[in-house]
Amino acid sequence: MRLGEIGMDSAAFEASLEAAAARAGDLTPLVYDRLFARHPGLKAEFWRDSRGAIQGEMLARVFETLIDLAGPRVMADHYITTEITTHDAYGIARGHFTEFFAIVGETVAAAAGPDWTPAMAAAWGEALREIDAVLAAMPGPDGSQPGLEAATILADR
Ligand code: HEM
Repeated sequence: MRLGEIGMDSAAFEASLEAAAARAGDLTPLVYDRLFARHPGLKAEFWRDSRGAIQGEMLARVFETLIDLAGPRVMADHYITTEITTHDAYGIARGHFTEFFAIVGETVAAAAGPDWTPAMAAAWGEALREIDAVLAAMPGPDGSQPGLEAATILADR
């Protein structure tokens, strides 16, 4: 059985990170350039981060989360849920939070260039779908529960 059939292709996922690092080195400036080009308003959110330490730490945690999600998956789900709640308090929209993972994926693909493969694209697609599912399963910031309607329908059967 191929790895891809029993879950995410973690080998392809990790190979994408290695290919990007080999070609472009530290991806931090590339990721944040891409984020701020798309959402210039988000730059001001990092007003406390005069030396870039928070941005660097944030991205390191994002890579750690993605590697866990593609592999052992022992912390990603809880960690994403916790950080979404923390970022609610920072005033960061949930859509922006999850989009950050996609922006990291785009940066990795661009940096990997000719080394980017369809298996890598599939592994990233799967990771991003899993992240969307974690967000969808969370109660809304106002305490509403998006999953409630489906749960009620099931309970009625
Ligand atoms: C566009 C999406 C995001 C924005 C705009 C954003 C914004 C921020 C801001 C403004 C801070 C600093 C808060 C402060 O002043 O102390 C911060 C910290 C942090 N963020 Fe994010 N965030 C995003 C996505 C994420 C994601 C996806 C993760 C991880 C899964 C994450 C993990 C963290 C962590 C760990 C810190 C604390 C870093 C430290 O202080 O050492 N963030 N984020």
